[in-house]
Formats: sequence, structure tokens, C-alpha cells
Amino acid sequence: MKIVKTVAEVRAQVAEWRKTGMSVGLVPTMGYLHEGHASLIKASVRDNDKTVVSVFVNPMQFGPAEDLESYPRDINRDSLLAGECGADLIFNPEPEEMYHEGFSSFVDMSVLTQELCGLSRPVHFRGVCTVVTKLFNIVKPDRAYFGKKDAQQLAVVRHMVDDLNMDLTIVGCPIIREDDGLAKSSRNTYLNADERKAALVLSKALALGADLIRGGEKSCSAIIAKMKEFIEKEPLARIDYVKIVDCATMQQIDTLDRPALAAMAVYIGKTRLIDNFFTEDL
Ligand code: PAF
Repeated sequence: MKIVKTVAEVRAQVAEWRKTGMSVGLVPTMGYLHEGHASLIKASVRDNDKTVVSVFVNPMQFGPAEDLESYPRDINRDSLLAGECGADLIFNPEPEEMYHEGFSSFVDMSVLTQELCGLSRPVHFRGVCTVVTKLFNIVKPDRAYFGKKDAQQLAVVRHMVDDLNMDLTIVGCPIIREDDGLAKSSRNTYLNADERKAALVLSKALALGADLIRGGEKSCSAIIAKMKEFIEKEPLARIDYVKIVDCATMQQIDTLDRPALAAMAVYIGKTRLIDNFFTEDL
């Protein structure tokens, strides 16, 4: 697996592939790859002639009190996993390569970002939109792959691509879970054994919400109250949010009368985990 660290090297390699008319897929990641990322890479390998995986812990999307420093990093492990999945190139820039001195241009969004994670992480989506735009400009992929675990991120990126006429297709891929239901996440590595058990409250609370919806419950506040009540029974859990929003606007709704997203962020100890489901997938 070839790992390159500069924009110039990625551009040279992609230009080489383009000469023979090959299509290119991009899987943007922050590394410490797991089966969730593997499923994105495999989808890209399936759809494109060549696949680039970017591994970059983007400082711009972390708030001051967040886990930028402790975010797990292991490029050798990442390179092995990406290679096994069929990726062709890893782009692993240093922060200075992405944000040179005097960097001062940003991509931001005034819709979709006010609720859910955008509310608890005010600078997050500006950082995501800026870095994703840069990655799209560097790699110029035909398709880019994002997981549905970050459902709001997926909606924001799709909206940005549409607003700014970016010439690529965004592909959303299903959440990958551990056998017991916990959504795969690089942040799961922060959990100790007790926290790992406690972390099941997220997927179990969502399963409870999904059952209520399947049973015909239409009141969002009733569904949310039951999910919160369940989570609050777990002493290691502290709710950031549990919400049901319109899929298109990410705004909260009262009644389940349109495609919706049930999403939550819950601290397990110091670790903030997210999970969700789309009512359309039930
Ligand atoms: O989902 C992530 O890992 C990141 O937000 C992304 C899309 C790679 C941008 O840094």
C-alpha cells in the first residue's frame, strides 16, 4: 500500500490513473480504521477503478475541550486494513500540509447544522465542510463514501455538494455494528470494560424506539421520553441529546408523518458516542 503525505503526490498519482480513463473513489477518514471504514473502502473498490483513502485527524473540526490530542492514530495498522480491502493509495498529510500558514478560507453551512451534533459541537461542521472540500479538490474523485453513523455529516456533505455544484456523487453506507449491537467507532477504544457494557444503552434505546414506531406510535415526544428513560437507568451514561428530526431539514418534528432520523449522542464516562436510525430503514 502506497502512503503519500503531500497534495502534489496525490495529484500526480490520480493524474496518472486519469490518463487511462480510470474512475476514482475517495474514502475520507480520520484513521484508526475499523469494519465501518472497511465497508466504505469495499464499496468504493466495488464502484471505482481506483480508491484513495485519506487518513487525517482534522484539527479544524474539534472544539477546544474535545479529544483532538487523544484521538487514536496508527497509520501502519490503517495501511494494512485499507490494503486488505483493496484500496490503492493512502493520503496521510500532516496538519501543515492541509493548513499552511495564513490559511483563512472556510466552507460553512447555515442550514442542517443547527441541531443534533451541530448544537453541542459549534465549530464541528465548518471544520468538516472545509476539510472535505479540500479533499475533494485534491483528489477530484468521481464518488466519495460516508457512513450513515454520522447521519448529520452525510446530510451536510450532500447539501454542500448540491449547493456548490461539486462534480461528484456522495454514497452513504449502512452503520456497521459489533455483534452485540454497539455501532463501530474509533472512539470505542476509549471505553474500559464497564463502559463498553454500558455503551450498549445507545443501540438498545434505539431498538426500543424502533419497536414503538413499528407498533404504530407517532408521537416523537412519547418515543423520545421512553428512550431517555431507558438510557437514564444506566449510571455511566449521560445524555447529550436524543432527538427525532426531519431527514431533509434535520429540524425536530412532533409527529412521525414524514421520513425521519432518530439520533442520539450519549457520554459513556468521558466518551461521547453517537448512534441513529432512519425510519425509512425500519
Ligand atoms: O467522519 C469522519 O471521520 C470525518 O468527519 C471526515 C469526514 C473524515 C472529515 O474529517
